Amino acid sequence: MCGIVGVTGKENAVDILLNGLGRLEYRGYDSAGIYVNDQNGKEYLVKEKGRIADLKKEITPDVHGTTGIGHTRWATHGVPSKENAHPHVSADGRYYLVHNGVIGNFAQLKKEYLEDVTFISDTDTEVIVQLIAKFAQKGLSTKEAFKKTLTLIDDSSSYSFLLVDHEEPDTLYVAKNKSPLLIGVGDGFNVVCSDAIAMLDQTHDFVELVDGEIVVVKPESVTIENMEGNQISRKPFHVDTDASEAEKGAYPYYMLKEIDEQPGVMRNLIEHYIAEDGSIKIDEELLKRLNQAQRLYIVAAGTSYHAGLVGKELFERLTNIPTEVHVASEFAYNPPLLAEHPFFIFLTQSGETADSRQVLSQVNEWGYPSLTITNVANSTLSREATYTLLLYAGPEIAVASTKAYTGQIALEAILAKAMGELKNIDKAENFNVAKELTFVANGMQALVDGKSEIKEIAEDVLATTRNAFYIGRSIDYDIAQEAALKLKEVSYVQTEGFASGELKHGTIALIEKDTPVIAIITDEKTAKHTRSNTQEVLARGARVIYIASRQLAVAGDQIILPEVHPLLTPLLAIIPCQLLAYYTSLQRGYDVDKPRNLAKSVTVE
Ligand code: F6R
Repeated sequence: MCGIVGVTGKENAVDILLNGLGRLEYRGYDSAGIYVNDQNGKEYLVKEKGRIADLKKEITPDVHGTTGIGHTRWATHGVPSKENAHPHVSADGRYYLVHNGVIGNFAQLKKEYLEDVTFISDTDTEVIVQLIAKFAQKGLSTKEAFKKTLTLIDDSSSYSFLLVDHEEPDTLYVAKNKSPLLIGVGDGFNVVCSDAIAMLDQTHDFVELVDGEIVVVKPESVTIENMEGNQISRKPFHVDTDASEAEKGAYPYYMLKEIDEQPGVMRNLIEHYIAEDGSIKIDEELLKRLNQAQRLYIVAAGTSYHAGLVGKELFERLTNIPTEVHVASEFAYNPPLLAEHPFFIFLTQSGETADSRQVLSQVNEWGYPSLTITNVANSTLSREATYTLLLYAGPEIAVASTKAYTGQIALEAILAKAMGELKNIDKAENFNVAKELTFVANGMQALVDGKSEIKEIAEDVLATTRNAFYIGRSIDYDIAQEAALKLKEVSYVQTEGFASGELKHGTIALIEKDTPVIAIITDEKTAKHTRSNTQEVLARGARVIYIASRQLAVAGDQIILPEVHPLLTPLLAIIPCQLLAYYTSLQRGYDVDKPRNLAKSVTVE
């Protein structure tokens, strides 16, 4: 949450910062700001409430520089406003700071050290910049003052900081703890960013930072030190992603582009993980360790959690290993009684979700093996887990996750097949995952090509409703939960994903005339039961839309899904639900890619 960028040693620092912030806007978009200096005594601080576009309007032609820092905010402490926007400046005007994260003990620090300072904002961040200035006034160098301040921040906190001292205008001071940050290495310049995407038009070579390091970035050098003052050398890694992959192209919104990309995501996964002869290209040591587990624990948040629910079906049916799925924020402080030999699987698009990271740290302390399935190579969860498998889905920019969900399920299917095969389980041996995922890719293509019909249903049934329900049983209930999240987060229609058999135990009281109820019917065992539950809501005035697999469809069903393997039906059923969410949001006039109150990468607990 919150995006930060910095640059030193480039003439067009303002453009670089603004482009970078534009690419990071998915991390937060309630206010933004930049600080730049030209190393000749001219410096500028521009901040604005709202989007990057609003900030741009405030930047007059005289604003220029070669060094600078920028921030796009998702408010944690203090309402979205110009005053609370970053960068924050110390009372003596010497230091400028941007921050991503939360300072848990900011109130105590303010009381203990800064009672004589007048604050401009309500943020936790301003306490940090004022503290640095205070220690510098007492004679510490900037690095020492920064370091001392870092030692006072408590363990509950998370941060990535970028600091500029106007007395050293070409230097960026950098530190991080639990929040992501990378240094991008250039020729005669260097950049800093929360996500490589922000700086891909400047460099493809990035140095990862580790918690507890202090980094001094100048145009010609990057010096990494630990808290003891020992220098650390670390080679950059190369990011292959093309900057254009993070562009919308001809699409009006990223969400639509990413929905359309899903057939390609399936094909990429087949290409990366399945050889021509059908053998699966996953490290055998990982498969063996997974198979040694008495129980698998899938830990994730939001949409990734929903992909985990489908994963449970896949792992249990293809590997016979009992599997539990947990919401990371719940597991973190209330873990269940664990099996003697557990294996943890973290599902995360971004690889940075704070709640999941919290659990992984605990798992590492316990000494249990783990696998992160993520879309972002070198992300924190990827680095900190024992093993990583990548989704190769390309950057997912829209806040509402689409292609990462289907990518995660497809990769779980490939993994479960490989594990089951190694254990000679018939069901796994007979599951031709490459062929089945190819059918899925073709089915997805047919569904995205038919999007105009889904648009009509959205306009007809969901455009003005106050609430809605997705219902289903078994694997269809898993889909219903993700479908409901999609609709509510982008269209603000209050939507519940419900086990259809459970409706009559209370929730049916909410059904009124014309309440939309969308029934998912892809599971053969429960299809009849879900249909009879739809009769119960129809009898109470609901408007029922059926999304059914071809072989289970009956006359009158509105959305028919191409036939695929019964374990893979979520990959198709979710497509019309994503499109319904997209078109409902559009119809209601919302910014589909940036729903209110949300940010893509949730890096605070
Ligand atoms: C919803 C959505 C979120 C994320 C959740 C976890 O569309 O995107 O619910 O799925 O914040 O994020 P990752 O997968 O990055 O750990």
